[in-house]
Amino acid sequence: MKRLLTGLQPSGALHLGNWVGALKPFVELSREYESFLMIVDYHALTTLKEPEALRENILGIAKDYIAAGADPEKSTIFKQSDVPEHTELAWIFQCLVTVPFLQQAHAYKDKVAKGLEANAGLFAYPMLMAADILLYDTDIVPVGQDQRQHIEYAREAAAKFNNTYGELFREPKEHILDSVATVPGTDGQKMSKSYKNTIPLFGTKDEIAKAVMSIITDSKAESPENVYNIHSLFRTRSELSELYKANKGKYQALKGALIEDIEAVVAPMRERRDSISDDDVRRILKEGSERARAIAGSKMNDVRRAIGVTI
Ligand code: AMP
Ligand code: TRP
Repeated sequence: MKRLLTGLQPSGALHLGNWVGALKPFVELSREYESFLMIVDYHALTTLKEPEALRENILGIAKDYIAAGADPEKSTIFKQSDVPEHTELAWIFQCLVTVPFLQQAHAYKDKVAKGLEANAGLFAYPMLMAADILLYDTDIVPVGQDQRQHIEYAREAAAKFNNTYGELFREPKEHILDSVATVPGTDGQKMSKSYKNTIPLFGTKDEIAKAVMSIITDSKAESPENVYNIHSLFRTRSELSELYKANKGKYQALKGALIEDIEAVVAPMRERRDSISDDDVRRILKEGSERARAIAGSKMNDVRRAIGVTI
C-alpha cells in the first residue's frame, strides 16, 4: 500500500483554507493509502513561544483532525515532538544542503519580509519538513499551493542524501488540487492566519457569519467575486450561477447563503468535535506516536549505518 502523509502547525485555529487545501484531501485519500497525519509542533515553535497556547493548540488541532473525519483506527495520528527521529534526520539534511539553497525558500522570504524574527529554526524549517516526509517513505503529500516548493525541497534532500550515501529515500510527490490550491480570505488575498482574513473552520455559527459578512465586495461589480470564490468550495458552478443570477447585486443575501452552506458542512463536524475529550486525544496521540516511532526508528537505523556513525 502506498503512503500518504501530511501535517499542520498547531499555531492557531484551523481555517477553511487549511481544511480544503490539506485536511479534506487527506481524509478523502486516506481510504486508499496507509496514512499518517501529524501535528507539527516543532515547526510551530519557529513562531509561537507561549507554552500554554501551544498546549491548547495541540489538543485543539488533534480534535479538529478527528472531527474533520481522520480516523485514528485507520490513520496514524501523531505529534512530531513525540518522534525525536524527525529532528535527528533534519540535522543530517542540514549538513547536506547549502545556505543559499535555503535562502531561496519563498515561505522563509515571505515571513522575513513580514517582519518575523529570522530565527535559525525558521531558516532550517524545510529540512525538518523533509525529514517529516522522508522518514516514512511517503509517496503523496496533500498540501495547499503555498507548500509546493517545500515538497521540492524534500525531494532535493532525498536526492542529496541518495547521491552522497546511496539510495535510501523515496522522492515524494505533492497532491495539490487546482480548484482549491489557494483559498482566498475575506480580503481576496490568500487565506492565512497572519493576514487576519480567515474564516474559522470550527468557529461558532456567529463567528463564521461575522467573518463572511466582513468579506470585501467591490460595489461596482454585479457579482461579488470574493464571496463567489469562497462559495465555489461548497457548491458546483451551475448551482452558483443560478443563485448569483437570481441575487444580482444583493450582497447580503449571497453572503447569507454562503453562511448557511458553510454551516451545513461544519455543524456536524463541530458536534463531533465537542464529544472528543482531552484524554481521548492523549490516548490517540500516544498510540499514534508508538506506531510512527516503530517506522521512524527503523529508518533512522538505516540512516545512521549509511552515514557512518554506527560503529
Ligand atoms: P499552515 O497553516 O501553514 O500550517 O498550513 C497547513 C496546510 O493548509 C498546508 O498544507 C497549507 O498549504 C494549507 N493552506 C493554508 N492556507 C491555505 C489556503 N489559503 N488555501 C489552500 N491551502 C491552504
Ligand atoms: N510546512 C507545512 C505548513 O506550514 C507544515 C508541515 C510540516 C508539513 N511538515 C510537513 C506538511 C510534512 C506536509 C508534510 O503548512
